[in-house]
Amino acid sequence: MKRISDFIAEELAAAFEAAGYDRNYAKVTLSNRPDLCEYQCNGAMAGAKAYHKAPIMIAQDVVAKLEGSGCFCDVQAVNPGFINLKLDERFVADYLDEMETDEDLGLNKTDNPKMIVIDYGGPNVAKPLHVGHLRSAIIGESVKRIARKMGHNVLGDIHLGDWGYQMGLIITELKERKPELPYFDENFKGEYPAEAPFTISELEEIYPTASGKAKEDEEYRERALHATYLLQNGHKGYTAIWNHIMHVSVNDLKKNYANLNVDFDLWKGESDAQAYIPDMIERLKKEGFAHVDDGALVIDVQEESDTKEIPPCMVQKSDGASLYGTTDLATLVQRVEDYHPDKVIYVVDKRQELHFVQVFRAAKKTGIVPSETELKFLGFGTMNGKDGKPFKTREGGVMRLENLIAEIQEEMYKKITDNRTVEEEEAKNTAKTVGMAAIKYGDLSNQASKDYVFDVDRFTSFEGNTGPYILYTIVRIKSILNKYQEEGKAVTGLKVNQQSGESEKALMLALVKYNEMMENAYEELAPHKICAYIYDLANAFNHFYHETKILAEENEAKKQGYIALLILTKKVLESRSEERRVGKECRSRWSPYH
Ligand code: ARG
Repeated sequence: MKRISDFIAEELAAAFEAAGYDRNYAKVTLSNRPDLCEYQCNGAMAGAKAYHKAPIMIAQDVVAKLEGSGCFCDVQAVNPGFINLKLDERFVADYLDEMETDEDLGLNKTDNPKMIVIDYGGPNVAKPLHVGHLRSAIIGESVKRIARKMGHNVLGDIHLGDWGYQMGLIITELKERKPELPYFDENFKGEYPAEAPFTISELEEIYPTASGKAKEDEEYRERALHATYLLQNGHKGYTAIWNHIMHVSVNDLKKNYANLNVDFDLWKGESDAQAYIPDMIERLKKEGFAHVDDGALVIDVQEESDTKEIPPCMVQKSDGASLYGTTDLATLVQRVEDYHPDKVIYVVDKRQELHFVQVFRAAKKTGIVPSETELKFLGFGTMNGKDGKPFKTREGGVMRLENLIAEIQEEMYKKITDNRTVEEEEAKNTAKTVGMAAIKYGDLSNQASKDYVFDVDRFTSFEGNTGPYILYTIVRIKSILNKYQEEGKAVTGLKVNQQSGESEKALMLALVKYNEMMENAYEELAPHKICAYIYDLANAFNHFYHETKILAEENEAKKQGYIALLILTKKVLESRSEERRVGKECRSRWSPYH
């Protein structure tokens, strides 16, 4: 559907032109004096100089031409030259009725669907998930759904950290504890056991123990590094252990992400990129993109316009080992080959920005990625505790994701059962749903790049800009609609009132902005804009609710109009993207772990 702001802009442009002025002056914005008007145009002021005229005279000329416009019920030229606009209620009501019958609620899906890969989540296998990974998962999932909702083809890739030093540490510690296992017998020729030699909880203990030891004991560290080296060079027994680690951890990760309602189309990892490295390095050398510097192979990425130094992108260490950048470049080789993306978005901690600047420049310069492919870094800030420092447990340790979720759910459970009798089971389930909304909304409502304070009390509150408040508002609407239906009345084919009260109109004006807001949120990859919008919408609804006797309204037609407005408000508040558009096929074709 045409956006409401486009209707307004066109009316204004035609009026400027009809009055003899350049239509480019007809820019319209939301009013910054909502007490006086709904939209405003400041073009008369902008044009005053060019036309050697007082702005108010230009404004008056334009206003005269707007007479009889179907869009507005009130248009005023105000000193020194503002044009104040109020939308015609019938025009808005018709717009909303059309929105209601459209399955996408008037959203303008793209005519030019892009193939987008989103790299998010990025957990490190065998290391526990911590709150730092929470942001990537929540923001990435949201951006994926927004892009899908706008009609793009999107693949979400978890990009597991599954190829690093942590694997060598685990192998080393396992060898200390169980040297008799066949994986450590160089002469072993049989089949390795199908069962892993550890459970997930053992694995979760092994890694920190090994990591602690390696920090204290240089010899142990050397052994772990060597084990990593052997694994990366195809050692059979270690590869078998690696497979066990992957299997056990990936199953556990799947549970964790399912709890968060986060879903990946691709479960690829750094290890999947390894096969692409040798050819890539070969080509980079042959074509002169990479050169040896101090023993290491590097690609220069400094550009003339840089105001600070951007160090070269390292692709091979002097001992032949690959680095983080190598893996990211090779992953791009694979992504271009398999999915031909128009855009690749990385949702990663903003402290990794320099790494991505280097990788993106190297990928473009060397032709790993075609010049028209957009590489986008969506860096997010740190989630802090109330003390302003990175979020910790009460004891001061790194907060595990599971514990954080449990803590929120407990708090929600307390709030739900406080002063109320609710069945245990039901209260638990509600606490789960509302708790997840508290966490996700708490995160998403902040601009991604900013640090924010994770405040359990505030996030779980049913008042203010919180997930629970939004859910509470939806429940309130549902309850009214249920009661209305219990009166035996139909809830289909109803039309919004053509004449509205003040709070009713404010709600209507909030609703018409839906399509435009979604387009902006996608353009700017900004989930917080959606949160801000639904918060405004929920406030507009609650204000209307407090001012209006909805079910007690005696005029049946008017009451139907209220109900129509409620139905649409609920639809917009609940709107979400359909699950996995291309995802389904991709999942079975490309995902190695099922
Ligand atoms: N595993 C990394 C970490 O925990 C994040 C991976 C981000 N994605 C990427 N393509 N480098 O820091």
